Amino acid sequence: MDLDRKDQIEKIETELFLEAIYRLYGFDFRNYAFESIKRRIWYSARETKAKTISEFQGQVLYQPELIKNLTNNFSITVTEMFRDPSFFEAFRLKLVPLLKQHQTIRILVAGCASGEEVYSLAILLSEEGLYEQTSIYATDINEEILERAKQGKIALTHMKHYTRNYLQAGGQKEFSKYYRVEGENAYLHDFLKKNLVFAHHNLATDHSFNEFHIILCRNVLIYFNKELKERAFTLFYDSLREDGILCLGSQESIFSTNAFTDFDYTNKIYKKNEDIDLELN
Ligand SMILES: C[S@@+](CC[C@H](N)C(=O)[O-])C[C@H]1O[C@@H](n2cnc3c(N)ncnc32)[C@H](O)[C@@H]1O
Repeated sequence: MDLDRKDQIEKIETELFLEAIYRLYGFDFRNYAFESIKRRIWYSARETKAKTISEFQGQVLYQPELIKNLTNNFSITVTEMFRDPSFFEAFRLKLVPLLKQHQTIRILVAGCASGEEVYSLAILLSEEGLYEQTSIYATDINEEILERAKQGKIALTHMKHYTRNYLQAGGQKEFSKYYRVEGENAYLHDFLKKNLVFAHHNLATDHSFNEFHIILCRNVLIYFNKELKERAFTLFYDSLREDGILCLGSQESIFSTNAFTDFDYTNKIYKKNEDIDLELN
């Protein structure tokens, strides 16, 4: 079969597959970036030895026990502590002074994966004397990864790299004071968990909540198509206070909306525009 025809068939199969799992199980991945979600479907299909996406669709529809593993495979949970250190440095230098003007602070970390980014923020805010008055809501669609995030358990092999990130991000303490070592793992100290709330929330289907001072949604939108990214921008706009700040990942940026302006373009930090009629072009 020639390549064009194969691509055409796979496109139809992928769209039908995503529609099918949405209609039967309610999981909506229809607006995820096409090539990446197709790769993830194939990754799961190979585990059941399906030869085509259509064959795999039949298996998933008739064997509900496959759906959990499938949706977990759809969510890519790669993360690190103080990922992109220059972002955390900018957070410390430019956002902390803004936060210091408030008596209580609410931060949302959407797509928090196993929580490394959330614990990094907790460390930074506690060093800046702001953690006591802060609530950090950390959300994800993947229930299993949220359970891991709550534990604050990190493989010891990562800690050297994370210590380097922490120092590059402007950290000045002994990083090891934030965790204890047990066997092959590091366990982050309980005081860092005190003001964290981990919860399930789906950016593709759920609505806005709370009025946040800052929303971090880093390295999540890269997996969405244009329509879903625009839905997320509207949700962030509605979930931020008037002077709120949105932080995206290094490969992501705001487009086709007048809802935000650059605050620190290099570090993908944006400020909510006040008093506008939200327009998505
Ligand atoms: C690559 S991780 C990013 C982790 C962290 N924010 C970082 O930058 O290191 C992407 C996370 O987004 C989550 N995710 C994917 N689709 C989502 C959705 N529709 N709603 C909420 N979270 C989602 C995945 O489950 C995964 O944990």
